[in-house]
Amino acid sequence: MINIVGIGGSLRKNSYNRYLMLEAAKLMPDGSKLKILDISGLPFYNQDIENNYPENVKNFKNEIKNSDGILFVTPEYNYSVPGYLKNAIDLASRPYGDNSFNGKPAAIMSASIGMLGGSRAQYHLRQSFVFLNIIPINTPEVFVTMASQKFDENGNLRDEDAKKFMRQLLENLVNTARKLKND
Ligand code: FNR
Repeated sequence: MINIVGIGGSLRKNSYNRYLMLEAAKLMPDGSKLKILDISGLPFYNQDIENNYPENVKNFKNEIKNSDGILFVTPEYNYSVPGYLKNAIDLASRPYGDNSFNGKPAAIMSASIGMLGGSRAQYHLRQSFVFLNIIPINTPEVFVTMASQKFDENGNLRDEDAKKFMRQLLENLVNTARKLKND
């Protein structure tokens, strides 16, 4: 079984990106599963606490370390990644020498109410992947544009093209995770 953890970038109850994460959980390839992590209670990163992290941060780090890969699903805020998500990443990347993401494969999806679907946030996140030593799953890129028109009132994604790309991206993520696990 390939275990992927999902890290989402929106706290909002009716978040399109939350819906997208739930959709991804349904589309996981056979032999894999997605565990969505709750990052809502994490503290702000502060170097003073990094050698004595609270339990929820330790658990968050362990979930990532014990996973075979990561799926980030995030909105775009001001052409970048929401601070909420960046903070969680910063926490898990520390203390120095104990980066929980080290060597893990990761894929990104985003939904936005705009025309570009969160692409700029994705490229900023990819830049952080370099320092985190994350192995990026580059294709296909999944951008859900005009999200307010793409989900029904129950939060189901009504865009078959987007689902096709999601399936392919998840397959690429899981295949890479499997190869790395067997190495
Ligand atoms: C936004 N939004 C937005 N959209 C976009 O495509 N590019 C952007 O740079 C921004 N910037 C931005 C900043 C802030 C602070 C907010 C609150 C929103 C709009 C965004 O796409 C929209 O609110 C989505 O619904 C947010 O995602 P969730 O919460 O629905 O997952």
